[in-house]
Amino acid sequence: MPAVTRHIGLSLGADICWPLAFEQILADAKLELKIGKDVVSFACERVAIEPFMLQPGCKYDLVVDRLTHWLAIQREWIKKCILMDGLYVYNNPWSVQSYEKHSSYCAMTALGMPVPPTMMVPQKNYEPKPDLDYTLKAYARLFDLGKVGAQIGYPLFMKPYDGGGWQGVTKIDDEAQLRDSYEKSEKWLMHVQRAVAGFDLFVRAVGIGPQVRVIKYDASQPLHGRYLPDRNFCSPEDEQVMVDTCLLINTFFGWDFNSVEALRKDGVFHPIDFANPCPDNQVNSIHYHWPWYVTSNLKWALFCAATRRPMRKTLDFEPYYAIARKDLPYREKLKGYARIARERLDAEKFAEFCQKHFGPLEEAARNWFRSDRCRDAIRRKVANMYPAHEVDEFSTRFFALVQKYVSDSEKESRQ
Ligand SMILES: Nc1ncnc2c1ncn2[C@@H]1O[C@H](COP(=O)(O)OP(=O)(O)OP(=O)(O)O)[C@@H](O)[C@H]1O
Ligand SMILES: [Mg+2]
Repeated sequence: MPAVTRHIGLSLGADICWPLAFEQILADAKLELKIGKDVVSFACERVAIEPFMLQPGCKYDLVVDRLTHWLAIQREWIKKCILMDGLYVYNNPWSVQSYEKHSSYCAMTALGMPVPPTMMVPQKNYEPKPDLDYTLKAYARLFDLGKVGAQIGYPLFMKPYDGGGWQGVTKIDDEAQLRDSYEKSEKWLMHVQRAVAGFDLFVRAVGIGPQVRVIKYDASQPLHGRYLPDRNFCSPEDEQVMVDTCLLINTFFGWDFNSVEALRKDGVFHPIDFANPCPDNQVNSIHYHWPWYVTSNLKWALFCAATRRPMRKTLDFEPYYAIARKDLPYREKLKGYARIARERLDAEKFAEFCQKHFGPLEEAARNWFRSDRCRDAIRRKVANMYPAHEVDEFSTRFFALVQKYVSDSEKESRQ
């Protein structure tokens, strides 16, 4: 049987911990997969930033990208490789570049998703430009911020239309605070969004290909306390709603790896932030769930590379809108959207593939997460983030949470 190697590139920023896990588990698993007439093995390396010709030639079959959203040269190199070499990348870089929080709200609201009422307001100040004065004098209408607040209702959130990392996000309880925040918003283009006040559950649904994990979240905690280790905190139907919501969003926008924040109130999940196509993947925030992220990331990358799954270069919204036009309750529409999503993600084929080929990978992962190499990877990340006197404490804490995940999942698999 011909031996072939699939090449995986990791396009990284300060991703200190998970790439070590990814590379070392992959090496330990020594996979040789019999696929058709081939025996497929894998090589993995980190992508360098360097000059490139606009010519065909890319040594990778698949790139896991963590830079597209902020480093132009890497984004443009990736686009070149998709267009000229048929590279598979997660996530679709054109979509990452153009579908920010605002357009994701618009599209999902159009499909019936209960996104809280949201208004965009013209920015307070602008970068000077030659035609700016004329344009604003001729066309910018004076508006009453008090009316905006009254229409949306308090409490509300003011936040940048394309934001991330909680920058510029303010909770507002009355008109005086709204006026004050608007004054301070300067050149940021802002949304005003009704708060989901009195919610009884906050979750993040994280999708990697067809795999989704719904995680309980507490936004009031410091970073290391936000992702909670709780399991079985909602009904199977509630969990399914979030799984379907995440798969819809991710396939609509061409994102293989993304996370969806939603707040449940009166039994309904209201997604409030779901354009996160480079979600947090670091052990210091996701700790307990980190082994799930690493293993799911490996499985999806290896499946896509091994089967030469073609990447969708363009998005195709129409099948989702066709369901949106039907006279159905939203939950039924969501099931329809999720069916499209699972088809687009080859969910059944992926599940069979995992069953058939990934036993050795699972075992290598379990052993690695229990090893000193895992302890070391965690410590390296913690040392990069925390003051020296806290490194021991937090490294030990995150390693213990990882151990808990491994033993919990062993228990689950025996049940
Ligand atoms: N409509 C809302 N109702 C209730 N809470 C909200 C709402 N919008 C934002 N928040 C709170 O503010 C936080 C930050 O808002 P949001 O997630 O939209 O901003 P972000 O900058 O994209 O954050 P991140 O980078 O963490 O994803 C949320 O995690 C949530 O706690
Ligand atoms: Mg958020």
